[in-house]
Amino acid sequence: MAAPSPHADSGTPHRFSVVVVGAGPAGLTVGNILRAAGVDCLVLETETRAFVERRPRAGVIEEWAVRGLERRGLARTLLERAQTHTACEFRFAGERYRFAYTQLTGRHHFIYPQQFLVTDLLREYADVRGGEIRFGVRDVRLHGLGSGRPSVSYLCPESGERRVVAADFVAGCDGARGVTRASLPPERARLARHDYGVGWLALLAEAPPSSDCVVFGMHPRGFAGHMARSPEVTRYYLQCRPGEDPADWPHERVWAELRERLGAVGAPPLTEGRLIEKRVLDMHGYVIEPMAFGRLFLAGDAAHLTAPIAAKGLNLALYDAFLLGDGLVASLTRGDDSGLSGYSDTCLARVWDYQEFSQWLAEMYHGTASGDPSRAGAARARLRRLFDSPVAATDFAERYLGVRAHDLA
Ligand code: APR
Repeated sequence: MAAPSPHADSGTPHRFSVVVVGAGPAGLTVGNILRAAGVDCLVLETETRAFVERRPRAGVIEEWAVRGLERRGLARTLLERAQTHTACEFRFAGERYRFAYTQLTGRHHFIYPQQFLVTDLLREYADVRGGEIRFGVRDVRLHGLGSGRPSVSYLCPESGERRVVAADFVAGCDGARGVTRASLPPERARLARHDYGVGWLALLAEAPPSSDCVVFGMHPRGFAGHMARSPEVTRYYLQCRPGEDPADWPHERVWAELRERLGAVGAPPLTEGRLIEKRVLDMHGYVIEPMAFGRLFLAGDAAHLTAPIAAKGLNLALYDAFLLGDGLVASLTRGDDSGLSGYSDTCLARVWDYQEFSQWLAEMYHGTASGDPSRAGAARARLRRLFDSPVAATDFAERYLGVRAHDLA
């Protein structure tokens, strides 16, 4: 439900063409596209700049997304610093199965920690393109979304006063725990939620990667994953029960379990390091349909969450942001509303593609440890097919990289 209108004495209203709520990859990409076209906008963010520039999140970016950033002048540092991956590896029953997806598609993944991308996007938006941004805001509320004259209000961190900002459009880019999604009237928005029924212990280790590619271990004790982030830091995942206490996973237990589940003939030993993040994720995904209401457009995790099964969340956030930024520019500078009117449907087609792929892959990861011989057998068949059938292999590569057949190099 939209919040009630703010009081008339709540501060001098300001006006911006667009208010963007949230300074993550989605919000900052939208803001940069608007600024490049000379559109005035304000980004509101609850955290401090230092915090968002250091917050570790995702790190795998698909090639089309990097090209999209590059076309908008947003990938210079990324292209200098990111690593590229050309393959992933499955480990099953003590064997290694290397899947060289670049050979099949000509495309690769870029490995670039999300906080580096946020740092680059912030610098470009605020320091180069002169975009307005307020950090540390509190209690953000949206008003009049259906009226054609929306506004956003927030508590100013310095004075504690409520400030009101009028806008032509509001971009809801405030992530999975944001407030903009709650402004959609419940009778106009549908939430589709998928629970995977497992937990993943998400770990960041102060250790160099132990492989030149992403590694997926399918083991009777549960799934394990290895993903490079930078030369100094590596992300690992261990399947666990939902709601488990991370404190039950001390250093020794984590590394013993990773060695066991990722162990395979000829595999290099894991390089251990201090665990600097340890969280249990209750694995689920959700999609809000439609992703727009009146003058509010949702983008990124505010509209849909994909569990980190196929590293899709950051890529979807960028896809939405490109479409939303371009659609807002077309509407505000040329009076062309076609991009905005097709925004939700176009985004949702890719969102559901990625959700479906995540569900398909999740079954392959978790079937082996399910205790159900039928699911375990099917998971094994799924893996075998990737290496037996060129058609299945190409299909997987295309979906893993987010490329469609007609985009193939
Ligand atoms: N008002 C303003 N800002 C808010 C509010 C609020 N009420 N609530 C949250 N925020 C901020 C968060 O602090 C964060 O900086 O919105 C931003 C949302 O950024 P992300 O969560 O990174 O979401 P998004 O830009 O959609 O990017 C999705 O993030 O969670 C990862 O794996 C996910 O890689 C994917 C990416």
